[in-house]
Amino acid sequence: VRVDLLLAGYGHVGRRFVRLLGELNGELAILGIEPVVVGVVTARHGAIFDRAGLDANQIALRLAGSGINASTPPSTLEWVARLRSQGAEARLLVETTPLDVRSGEPAISHVRAAFEAGAHVISANKGPAAWAWNALQAEADRAGVSFLCEGAVMDGIPILSLVRETLPCAAVRGFRGVINSTTNYILTALERGEPFDDALARMQAAGVTEADVSHDLDGWDAAAKAAVLANALMSAGITPFDVAREGLGPEAAPRAAAALTAGHRLKLVARASRPSGPGGPVEAAVALEALPLDDPLAMLDGQANALELDTQPAGRIVITQRDGGLEKTAYALVADLVTVARRVAAGAGRTGR
Ligand SMILES: NC(=O)c1ccc[n+]([C@@H]2O[C@H](COP(=O)([O-])OP(=O)(O)OC[C@H]3O[C@@H](n4cnc5c(N)ncnc54)[C@H](OP(=O)(O)O)[C@@H]3O)[C@@H](O)[C@H]2O)c1
Repeated sequence: VRVDLLLAGYGHVGRRFVRLLGELNGELAILGIEPVVVGVVTARHGAIFDRAGLDANQIALRLAGSGINASTPPSTLEWVARLRSQGAEARLLVETTPLDVRSGEPAISHVRAAFEAGAHVISANKGPAAWAWNALQAEADRAGVSFLCEGAVMDGIPILSLVRETLPCAAVRGFRGVINSTTNYILTALERGEPFDDALARMQAAGVTEADVSHDLDGWDAAAKAAVLANALMSAGITPFDVAREGLGPEAAPRAAAALTAGHRLKLVARASRPSGPGGPVEAAVALEALPLDDPLAMLDGQANALELDTQPAGRIVITQRDGGLEKTAYALVADLVTVARRVAAGAGRTGR
């Protein structure tokens, strides 16, 4: 299956994704998948389109020479619409623009433009699924395409596909997890007595923080991820505004130290459940919690993430990403690309959420 890809956004995640496609070229070929990057569109660094295909070096050279700058920004929607004229068996938008946690835009509009062009969407951006999961899945159904966002939630952890593919007929009654790498890294550093700002600076240098780092520190990133998980796994129909939220600042240092002295570890935990039982509304929250050391979430160091699902009848399931980071997010996009290609090969645009 040849899959023509257009990348909306070419920052940390977009660049790592394109390099990973090159590194996994042989493995993808064995699966019969030929991804071809036909276009890249950014906000301030230009845009290019070439049906012959572009590798990372060509993109870097040609974006620099594309002559589009901040004074003449390309319309991302127009570039996405160009996917319509591609002749490949599958056309795909890779959404990696920054998160606007208060609206999910402009990514939601990019996703809709892709559907109109008959293209599938894979997104590392949480906005569309956090704000409009139900509507976008319905629109994808009508367009006969897939909308997948494994990379949006927990770096590379296959959490959405785990439930979708391996837990048929099971209900997710709730979840709790450590799902923001930056704050977990800072909390681990605070326990060692390291300064808050130094730990934060290391995460920024590694490209792990959100473009607007206050999203990580104020709990917005975790709230958006909790909304995605609740929407995708529990049909919650909520937005990040519905998630009660606590953040992390330097003032947490004595709390982290005191928790450790008392045989606990302070973690920023995202939770969701249906307190009034099956069919009731979902309540979700992000809050600092002191967890006993034998809690699987308390064992997470540095950038590690983990999620515990409370499922019926499969029981409680914990999945851990011990070393999250950019490469894992890029891998989640590759995994979604493979899912799309397999669905296309099987003759089904979308075969389940
Ligand atoms: N970094 C991570 O570890 C990580 C992990 C999981 C998920 N994510 C999510 O992945 C997404 C990308 O993260 P990132 O770290 O790669 O961000 P980034 O480095 O800031 O890159 C964002 C890219 O999007 C472009 N862009 C901004 N607005 C645009 C628009 N309207 N149309 C087209 N392009 C636009 C930017 O263009 P310019 O270059 O011209 O500014 C830039 O190329 C975010 O939604 C983030 O929440 C990130």
